Amino acid sequence: MDTTPFIATTAIPIKYTTTWEAPSNIALIKYWGKYEPQLPKNPSLSFTLTSSKTKTKVIFTPHTKNEIDFEFYFHGETKPDFKPKLSKFFDRIHNYIPWIFKYHLEIHSENSFPHSSGIASSASSMAALSLCLTDLEQQLFPEMDQAFFSQKASFLARLGSGSAARSIQGPVTLWGKNEIHKNSSDLFAVPFGTSLNPVFKEYQDTILLVDKGSKSVSSTQGHNLMHGHPFAENRFQQASTNLNALVPIMESGALEDFIHLVELEALSLHAMMLTSSPYFILMQPNTLAIIQKIWEFRKETSVPLCFTLDAGANVHLLYPNQNIEVIHSFIKEELSPYCQNRQYLFDAVGTGAKKV
Ligand code: DP6
Repeated sequence: MDTTPFIATTAIPIKYTTTWEAPSNIALIKYWGKYEPQLPKNPSLSFTLTSSKTKTKVIFTPHTKNEIDFEFYFHGETKPDFKPKLSKFFDRIHNYIPWIFKYHLEIHSENSFPHSSGIASSASSMAALSLCLTDLEQQLFPEMDQAFFSQKASFLARLGSGSAARSIQGPVTLWGKNEIHKNSSDLFAVPFGTSLNPVFKEYQDTILLVDKGSKSVSSTQGHNLMHGHPFAENRFQQASTNLNALVPIMESGALEDFIHLVELEALSLHAMMLTSSPYFILMQPNTLAIIQKIWEFRKETSVPLCFTLDAGANVHLLYPNQNIEVIHSFIKEELSPYCQNRQYLFDAVGTGAKKV
């Protein structure tokens, strides 16, 4: 894969401050399994969210040390524990942004969602930081057009966390080379395009907080367990097949078929965890209780409510905007008892990251 278009040159440093807000995303077709450098074993597709987001400000000050030099503040406090992850990120990306050696970076980041809600912040945080870096690069090289701006931000974000590549644009993005989108790539995510059915532009995602603690196995460890996994090759094939089936559904808005594929993907992801060696389970008893309740509700009412899961115990409820009322009362009355402190977060499909 040719990454040379993403290698910038150096330029005379300027003092610059910029702030970006990037949303989280929820995958419908799951990325699970990768190889160096942060390339996916199968294509994935996600809804970009609105309310769950990270806001990051970077103050770039020219220096002459010729090294990577940054300070990081999370909600106003220094966080030494976050430094190794960021150092690794800068190590992975400095070849593509060689101008970085000429700056001191003061990074201030905050999440809109409560800390320890079990919501992964790596996608939104890596996307927001990558956008700040790409923004400075565009100031240094003003000929950079908007399409390349989004691609480069997604390319850099991917090197921080795979799913972050999908948090730059909206409302639906695709990451990974696939048969259907001819401009798709393993290096960055692309928007689904104009053929997306309008129902999905307003789709709702309510996140049921089943377990707010930190996960027993991180996503990165889980991805690694796909190496040598007995079902890995079939799983990667299944994800591609499911994507090929989902794309026409995203265009037509056939919700029954949508529900079938989305729930199949969620359970297939967790099936990979159950059958890894060592095996692990991220679902909790309440995750399963909620799934049962959703299935009963759907059978009784025919309301198109479905679920997906990421690498954790929380349940994402997905439903059309027009069914909000009945679903909100169902959540409050029937599902909230299964949530920690009865907590859940309303979110919805959004249009992507924004400069503040
Ligand atoms: C289950 O993007 O968090 O949410 O690339 O190691 O940072 P790294 O992993 P990450 O994995 C996300 C896994 C997932 C599915 C998905 O978002 O597609």
